[in-house]
Amino acid sequence: MADLAGAEPPPGAAADWTIDQRWDRYTSAEHALWLTLYDRQARLLPGRACSAYLKGLEALDLRGEGVPDFSRINQRLAPMTGWRVVAVPGLVPDEVFFEHLANRRFPAGAFIRAPEQLDYLQEPDVFHDVFGHVPMLTDPTFADYLQAYGQGGLRAMGLGQLTNLARLYWYTVEFGLVREAGGLRIYGAGIVSSRAESIFALDDPSPNRLAFELERVMRTRYRIDDFQQVYFVAPSLRALLDATLQDFSALYARLRGAADIPIATILPTDDVVTRGTQAYAASRAG
Ligand code: PHE
Ligand code: FE
Repeated sequence: MADLAGAEPPPGAAADWTIDQRWDRYTSAEHALWLTLYDRQARLLPGRACSAYLKGLEALDLRGEGVPDFSRINQRLAPMTGWRVVAVPGLVPDEVFFEHLANRRFPAGAFIRAPEQLDYLQEPDVFHDVFGHVPMLTDPTFADYLQAYGQGGLRAMGLGQLTNLARLYWYTVEFGLVREAGGLRIYGAGIVSSRAESIFALDDPSPNRLAFELERVMRTRYRIDDFQQVYFVAPSLRALLDATLQDFSALYARLRGAADIPIATILPTDDVVTRGTQAYAASRAG
């Protein structure tokens, strides 16, 4: 989550931090960069991304001729699930973010990365936000989940429990895996928008892959600087939504007394899908 508490929107942005996408301002080089990123991922994802994601990607026609115009995305998306994409300058304060989600608006960065950042960038750009997140918003179950998350975020802020809830977002919306008939599949936006992690998350022997368990996930630390060392596998998107419909008050009370779980730990109570070697993380630690 961005540490922008109390920050004012930048000049030109509305009180809710939205801006005009100014689609006509993208250069032909920026449109070409979108197509490069799009084509590379679209080729890789069949058999890796979950069926809801692949269906959504197709339904929204996001390749087009370059960076999509959000108003055209919304013409297709809104009739499907009531979600819309709104443009923002970059990361927004937590409260602003949750307020948008709670109202089925997905805030997407309007800028696109520089060509030398094809594989890695720190701040979410239009490729991560739109290619990564928006296809899942066509799925009715995931659409409900993300709205409920926004409502839950506003509550968690009031209860001082955002650290725990942010981990749920991280390990589901950004880095979630789901079980399908054909095997493990990706639904997390941080994975589907990254070429290298789309392969690593499913095929590499390094990371742990553990069955999703709400309280366990909310206790687990995460890293923002490299591939994840643990992925959590939901039995289905429906099961994910069902697990979060309960009131989190009692869970938060328990979490206040519970220790954080280090990233690579496997607990005796974990339902282990794959026990990772952690070789990749060890090699990066030098
Ligand atoms: N049920 C949660 C609460 O009571 C809200 C929530 C729903 C959080 C879905 C995350 C995802 O706060
Ligand atoms: Fe994201």
